[in-house]
Amino acid sequence: MSNTDLNIMIPEIDPNYFLPVGIIKNLARIEKLSKRHPVNVMVVGKQGCGKSSLVKQFAAYYKRPLSTFQIGLLSEPGQLFGEKGLKKGNTFFEEFLFPKTISTPRSVIHLEEINRPEHPKALNDLFSVLSEDRSIWVEGLGLVKVADEVIFFATLNEGAEFTGIDMVDAALRDRFYIIQVDYPPPNIEEEIICSKTGVSREIAKKIVNVVNLLRNNAQMPLSVSTRHSLMIAELASEGANIRDALIYSIQIEKSILETALISLHLGEGEEEIIDIDNHNYVRYV
Ligand SMILES: Nc1ncnc2c1ncn2[C@@H]1O[C@H](COP(=O)(O)OP(=O)(O)O)[C@@H](O)[C@H]1O
Ligand SMILES: [Mg+2]
Repeated sequence: MSNTDLNIMIPEIDPNYFLPVGIIKNLARIEKLSKRHPVNVMVVGKQGCGKSSLVKQFAAYYKRPLSTFQIGLLSEPGQLFGEKGLKKGNTFFEEFLFPKTISTPRSVIHLEEINRPEHPKALNDLFSVLSEDRSIWVEGLGLVKVADEVIFFATLNEGAEFTGIDMVDAALRDRFYIIQVDYPPPNIEEEIICSKTGVSREIAKKIVNVVNLLRNNAQMPLSVSTRHSLMIAELASEGANIRDALIYSIQIEKSILETALISLHLGEGEEEIIDIDNHNYVRYV
């Protein structure tokens, strides 16, 4: 199977992906609207809160081929479509995956990290494919048209280190419906952790408690993502205690972690064991 085929496959359903009912209902509306006219959707939320998974699950649910493009990596305009090459003295145009996928009916095109292209003009090509006329003239390819029922999903990271939706040019932003996603509520995050990593409900509860304490820490709130909660749980499923699982998953100031752990009333015996583990150096051979 060639690379191209691989990239435009219908993804598999994740049996343990959770979303608020309201968003699920709105996604059904989006699906219907896409049969009437072109639709673009922007998914906004903190890093690791499930944006890419949402796009993938939508494609899986509606049996649409999915392809993903890292907009954050684009360093020059025109880069999505292809490049000029030289073969036996003749120039030719090598077509990239993007024009192929936009001409695939019903495909979902995920534009990842649309707020962070390396080159400010790299987004220019997207304006015309996202607009009502849905076509673009590409040198070397001619007129490239967006196929029927194609949906563009852009994802955008927001948070302290990201500037968020305001960074996206107003004219571009104007073409999207917006879906705002957040970290799931504690009981759902527990469920996600249990079902995806196999840890017990009790351990999942502890992890979610600490993670939420850190997220809501008044001094220095940390945005610990669901992705990180899962990573912490995976270490726990391999036998790490909660403190070690945290220390080896997120960068965190010791004093903040201690405060969070103490307020969870973790057993003192457990702290003992950790100290031995971390102060006793042995040759790593
Ligand atoms: N609501 C959710 N239900 C199930 N798993 C989730 C959910 N949100 C996030 N995850 C899991 O967390 C990880 C990170 O999600 P991802 O979609 O890559 O985040 P983002 O694109 O927002 O950075 C994935 O493994 C995903 O399956
Ligand atoms: Mg993502």
